[in-house]
Amino acid sequence: MAQRGSWWRMADTKQMMERQRVLADFGALALRSDDLDAVLTEACSLVARALGCELAKILEVEDDGATLFVRAGVGWQPGVVGVVHLPMCERSSETYSIEAGVPVFTPNISKEDRFEFPRFLLDAGVVGIVNVPIFLPGGKAFGLLQVDSREAWSPGDDEIQFLRTYAAILGPVIDRLHKVHALKEATDRNRILLLELQHRIKNNIAAISSLVRKQIKTAKSADARAELAVVGERVEALSLVHEHVYASNRGDRLSLRTYATELLRRLLALHCQAGVRLEASIEEVDIASDTAIPLGLILNEFATNSLKHAFSADHTTGHPVIRIEAGLRDDRIWVHICDNGSGRTLQPPPKRGSGTGLALIAGLSQQIGARPNWCFENGTSLHLEFKRR
Ligand SMILES: Nc1ncnc2c1ncn2[C@@H]1O[C@H](COP(=O)(O)OP(=O)(O)OP(=O)(O)O)[C@@H](O)[C@H]1O
Ligand SMILES: [Mg+2]
Repeated sequence: MAQRGSWWRMADTKQMMERQRVLADFGALALRSDDLDAVLTEACSLVARALGCELAKILEVEDDGATLFVRAGVGWQPGVVGVVHLPMCERSSETYSIEAGVPVFTPNISKEDRFEFPRFLLDAGVVGIVNVPIFLPGGKAFGLLQVDSREAWSPGDDEIQFLRTYAAILGPVIDRLHKVHALKEATDRNRILLLELQHRIKNNIAAISSLVRKQIKTAKSADARAELAVVGERVEALSLVHEHVYASNRGDRLSLRTYATELLRRLLALHCQAGVRLEASIEEVDIASDTAIPLGLILNEFATNSLKHAFSADHTTGHPVIRIEAGLRDDRIWVHICDNGSGRTLQPPPKRGSGTGLALIAGLSQQIGARPNWCFENGTSLHLEFKRR
């Protein structure tokens, strides 16, 4: 029987060190990568190199518990790795190794009478073969690490010990990657559900918005029409958040710059106050949708007030402007919105049925953890600062 050289049977210090290095390299890779197939292939390649073999593979027990699948491997002709399925029959060395939970080796296939070997092994010229079972934490069998030699091979204790250590590391590594994969799948599923939910919310708000528009048309008095128009604008502001969240395709975050600018631009267009200019200077910051909703409503109320109250002919100095600036400082978002209108001290208006705007701004600011800071010099300005979530 052809034998490997004596270096193979008796690990010298250099070989031992090489194997230690292989274990360390593999440990480092296993922590870095989230790709199970890549990790298993690298595991095969490292073990083959450490033992001086051309061929190695990892077999996985399939869900039916009765078949093994060649999940990864090195040195094989195409048509083996990722393709071959083996029945876990009684006379297979793989089945025996998994069931007994011990490494099993066949020094020379042609002289083996305990087991039968699959055709593809013989076709590849395999003579000696070592099976080492891989168990997941908790004891469930994942499959096997197989090292195949094209020469007869009786592995020494040190080789078997090395392979057992290697397989013992593989178990928890595979388990971690399974969990990462399951978590990713669950996250993807939730993201799809969230997008679907947002889509429905967006449609429902659009339905409410069109209902309000119809009501405006049929309302009897001018007052009723004006009040319904304000409700319509508030619904419109809500609808915009959902449109942006849905369009951002990121589930729960959106760009403050795009969202705030579009909200104000649409509001100005709605009021047909072509003379009022919008100036926006907003840093590219993304915000959570549950912050965007209250913030959008605050901006909506502020700008509606500017359009309604600030620019009467006798108070306006210069061109009427609504200006918004915003950015991020020390993980806090700041927003400054102002007009250059009459800027008087804000008082709840005497007329019944109105005066919701300022109360809404106070309530919504509290909701995002900001204290509204008003200023009435050369117009009205509102400054808000809140923690970015
Ligand atoms: N930018 C502004 N410039 C001048 N006056 C303002 C401005 N914002 C608010 N005001 C004054 O403050 C009052 C209170 O505003 P608030 O938004 O609470 O009520 P409203 O706008 O009158 O009614 P509603 O918001 O319910 O439609 C307004 O009636 C107005 O007199
Ligand atoms: Mg108002």
